[in-house]
Amino acid sequence: MEKVIGIDLGTTNSCVAIVENGSPVVIPNRGGYKTTPSMVAVTEAGKRLVGHIAKRQAITNAENTVYAAKRLIGRKWNSPQVKNAVATSSYRIVEGPHADVRIVLRDKEFSVPEISAMVLQEMKVIAEDYLGEPVSKAVVTVPAYFNDNQRQATKDAGEIAGLDVIRIINEPTAAALSYGFGRNVEKTVAVYDFGGGTFDISILEIGAHGVFKVVATAGDTFLGGEDVDARIIDWLVSGFKDEHTIDLRQDRMALQRLKDAAEKAKCELSGVKETEINLPFIISSGRNEALHLQRQLTRQTLEELSVDLIERTIDICKQTLDDAKLDKDEIEEVILVGGMTRMPKIQEAVQGFFEREPCKGVHPDEVVALGAGIQGAALIDDKQEMILLDVTPHALGIMTFGNVFEELIPANTTVPTHRQKIFTTSRDNQTAVKIIVMQGDSQKADENELLGEFILSGIRRAAKGQVEIEVTFEINADGIVSVRAKDLETGLEQSIQVTATSGLTRDEIKAMVDNAKDDLLDRRSSDEIEAAKQEAQKLIADIEKLFPQVQQIVASSDFGREAIDKAKAVVEKAKQAIDRKDLAAIKEQIEGLSRTQRMFKGVVAKT
Ligand SMILES: Nc1ncnc2c1ncn2[C@@H]1O[C@H](COP(=O)(O)OP(=O)(O)OP(=O)(O)O)[C@@H](O)[C@H]1O
Ligand SMILES: [Mg+2]
Repeated sequence: MEKVIGIDLGTTNSCVAIVENGSPVVIPNRGGYKTTPSMVAVTEAGKRLVGHIAKRQAITNAENTVYAAKRLIGRKWNSPQVKNAVATSSYRIVEGPHADVRIVLRDKEFSVPEISAMVLQEMKVIAEDYLGEPVSKAVVTVPAYFNDNQRQATKDAGEIAGLDVIRIINEPTAAALSYGFGRNVEKTVAVYDFGGGTFDISILEIGAHGVFKVVATAGDTFLGGEDVDARIIDWLVSGFKDEHTIDLRQDRMALQRLKDAAEKAKCELSGVKETEINLPFIISSGRNEALHLQRQLTRQTLEELSVDLIERTIDICKQTLDDAKLDKDEIEEVILVGGMTRMPKIQEAVQGFFEREPCKGVHPDEVVALGAGIQGAALIDDKQEMILLDVTPHALGIMTFGNVFEELIPANTTVPTHRQKIFTTSRDNQTAVKIIVMQGDSQKADENELLGEFILSGIRRAAKGQVEIEVTFEINADGIVSVRAKDLETGLEQSIQVTATSGLTRDEIKAMVDNAKDDLLDRRSSDEIEAAKQEAQKLIADIEKLFPQVQQIVASSDFGREAIDKAKAVVEKAKQAIDRKDLAAIKEQIEGLSRTQRMFKGVVAKT
C-alpha cells in the first residue's frame, strides 16, 4: 500500500515523518538532519536552493533568499502583518494581482504558496530517497489558529508540490496525537507550541480507545521566535545608531547578518548566561572605513527584551482555559512544542502558570511531524481506531446589513460541522443578495477576515424582509469552509467552496459597508427594532407634514431658521438610523423627534 507522509511545514524548520512497522519515525535529510530549514533561494545562475544549502548562502545572497514565508501565506497585501514583513525582510515583497502577496527572486515574482511548495517538495524528496519509492500523499500540519485562507493556501502549496494533501491537521493536535499514540492514556492535556512564527495553545481530552478531542484552542499566527529575534535586532540596530549614527537596516546584507547573529545569540542564551555578538565589517562608514559591531548580550537582557511576548502567550493560555471552562488544576499534563520552548524563561513562565512541570518525554522539533505521520497512516488503514475531533479556532459567519457580523458557527466548535440560519432581504424588490463570508471574533464585520463572497440572484420581488434566505455553513475535517444560500420559497440555490486566491481588499469591504444600497442580507428583524422604527417613522411623517407651515411662520427670524435646520438634521439622522436598523440609534433619535414634533405642533397651534 502507498505510504502517506506527515509534514510539519514550519516557519523556520520543516520535518517529515512516516509510520513504519507500526511506529512513527522522523526521516532525516541527506545531511543527516531531522529538520530542514524552511528557506528557499535563487542563485545568480538561476539555480533554486532549498533547506540547509539555502540557509548557508543567505548572508551573501540576502535579497534572493526567503525565510519565514509561512508568515505571509494566505494573507492579504494590505494586512498589518504583511506591512510589517515588507518593512523588516531582507527579501523583496510586492503586491500581487489579487491584492495578494508576491516575493521577488531574481526579478521573477513568486506567490507564497509557490515558495512553500518548494519546501514541501524538498520534504517529499527526502521521504522518497529514504523509502526508495515515489510518494504522492501527505498530511500537512498548520497552526491551530490559521484561518480558512491560510489553510486553503497551504493546501494549494501541496498541490503545486505534486502532493495530494489528504488532510490538514492542527500542529498542537498533531503533537498530542504523537504524545498519546500507543500509550493508552486518559488525560486532559495542554499543548503549548511556541515555534519560529506562530504561537498555539490547545487543550485536549485524550480518551480511551484512541479518542483525541480538542476542547479549545487559541493562538497568534504572528508571534514566534522571529519576533524575539526582531527584538534583538532592534536592540543591536539602535545601539549601533547611537554609536555611529548609521542605520544598519539600510543594508540588506547587514540585516541578514544581524538576523543570523540574533538567532544564534538567542539559542546560545538558553544554555549560557551571557554571549558575545561579533559582526566584523558590518557596514562601511561614509568615510570609507569598515565598521564592526561587537556587543555582549546577557540572558537577563534578552528576557527583558522579550518579556511582553512571553506574557502574551500566557494571556492566551488563560483565555483558552476559560474557553474550555477548565481550571488549571484540571490539566493533567503540559506538553511543550516548538524550538522556543527551550528558552528557560518560557519554561519557567509555563510552569508558573500551569503550576506543573511540563512533560519531558516529547521532542519539541519532531513531535508535530510524528503526529502528522500517525494521522496519515490512520487515514489509509481501516483497522485503525483512532478518532480525532478538532475544533474551528475562529467564529464563522456572514456580513449583514450595517456592518454586523452575524455568527453562524462559534469558535471552538467541533469539526466537521454544519449550521444553518435564516436571513431576510434588506431592501424592497431586492432581486439579488450578496453573501459575504467572514471569519473572526469581532462583532464588526469589517474587522474580521474576508473568506469570500458570492451572489444569489433571481430572487422573487417582494417587500424588504419578506424573502427568507437560508444560509448553510459547512466546515470539513481540514477546517475548510463551504457556504450555501437558498431562497426558501423558490428553492433557488447558490454555493461556494471558499477559495483563498483573490478576494476583496479591506478597503473594498469598507466601501461595501459604506454603500447602503448594497444588497446584503439582513438579520431577521426583531420585533423591538420594528416597533422603534414604526414609532420613529410616525414622528417623521408628522414633522414632515408640518414643515411647510412651520417654515412659513418662523422663516423670518434667525432663531426660526436655526430651529428648522436642527429639525431637518434630527429627521435625517433618524432616517439613517432606520436604514441601518440600529436599534440604539433609533431610540436615541426618537427623543429628538418627539421634541421637534411637539415644538412644531406648538408653533402651528399658536398661529
Ligand atoms: N535552544 C534554543 N533556544 C531558544 N530558541 C530556540 C532554540 N532552538 C531553536 N529556537 C528557536 O525556535 C524557533 C524555531 O522553532 P520551530 O522549529 O519549532 O519552529 P517552526 O515549527 O519552524 O515554526 P512554527 O511552528 O511557528 O511555524 C526559532 O525561532 C529558533 O530560533
Ligand atoms: Mg512548529
